[in-house]
Amino acid sequence: MIYSRIAGTGSYLPARILTNAELEKMVDTSDEWIRARTGIERRHIAADGETTVDLAEHAARRAIEAAGLKPEDIDFIAFGTTTPDLVFPNCGVLLQKRLGCLGVPAFSVETACAGFMYALSIADKYVRCGEAKRALVVGAETLSRMTDWEDRGTAILFADGAGAVVLEPSATPGILSTHLHADGRYNEMLYCAGGVSTGFGAKLAIKMSGKEVFKVAVQKLGSVVDETLAANGLERSAIDWLVPHQANIRIVQATADKLGLPMERVIVTVQDHGNTSAASVPLALDIGIRDGRIKRGELLLLEAFGGGFTWGSALIRY
Ligand code: COA
Repeated sequence: MIYSRIAGTGSYLPARILTNAELEKMVDTSDEWIRARTGIERRHIAADGETTVDLAEHAARRAIEAAGLKPEDIDFIAFGTTTPDLVFPNCGVLLQKRLGCLGVPAFSVETACAGFMYALSIADKYVRCGEAKRALVVGAETLSRMTDWEDRGTAILFADGAGAVVLEPSATPGILSTHLHADGRYNEMLYCAGGVSTGFGAKLAIKMSGKEVFKVAVQKLGSVVDETLAANGLERSAIDWLVPHQANIRIVQATADKLGLPMERVIVTVQDHGNTSAASVPLALDIGIRDGRIKRGELLLLEAFGGGFTWGSALIRY
């Protein structure tokens, strides 16, 4: 039996930091309100001309180096993003060209904040069946490009960043299971109108019914956590670390409560980079690994929830 395991992780945040104090000057809000309702203190914004693939390249090179590999060793690229550089070629291919691993499969997955979970699940299957040996899985976004900076309900939340992992085959897990879901009935609660087929209109802007999204996110993440534990015959106490989607500290707390985990066992980075959508889970994972909290052999539960709605989880022996 072949499993996939995480060989290395990497992440990248653009240099420009946008603080809550600066947002106070842009919309009718306050640092106190943002911290209390979301946990966010600052976020990073891509420079003019800096793209999703630019951010992804930094994260990918760091993950490849951490895995002890060279970019040309990568033989599969799965790229989660909802803010691609171009309509086509996809971001996976644009990244492939820069890394120089020419000829290998490269594609992007467009499942909003669950993009990394979907990309990870696909890459895991390819490694398990022996068709990929060094799979690069990326989550990267420049959400600032479709944020309505006049809408205080969303401008305070979304931001830019990238995270990546390299998967390699292993005789022991590794990734124990992944669980993906989508429910299109909720598409109007969180979306960005505009596309090739419908037309781009005047202004790309994320639209969100915050309160409703919050409720469904807590419910769906709670149930995917139960599903993940049940699929592996595990008790809640088996989990060493929750590595959640960094959308809102209150959603994170609700999932931690569901698992009976104290917040000291949860990787929380939302204060530093806001909601970076597909980038948020691999970013948090990389930060938790590099600062020494997450150690080899520990059991990690990753989860994310996003527009669609789409959501998913992964149980990983790191
Ligand atoms: N600053 C100050 N006040 C704000 C505000 C802001 N940025 N945004 C909204 N408010 C006001 C509202 O207008 C409302 O005022 P009112 O009571 O006078 O009508 C009040 O604050 C409460 O608004 P409400 O929307 O009920 O707040 P909330 O506690 O639900 O928090 C969110 C709003 C957006 C932070 C919260 O709903 C949320 O995080 N939802 C999930 C969003 C998310 O994670 N999306 C991505 C999923 S991948």
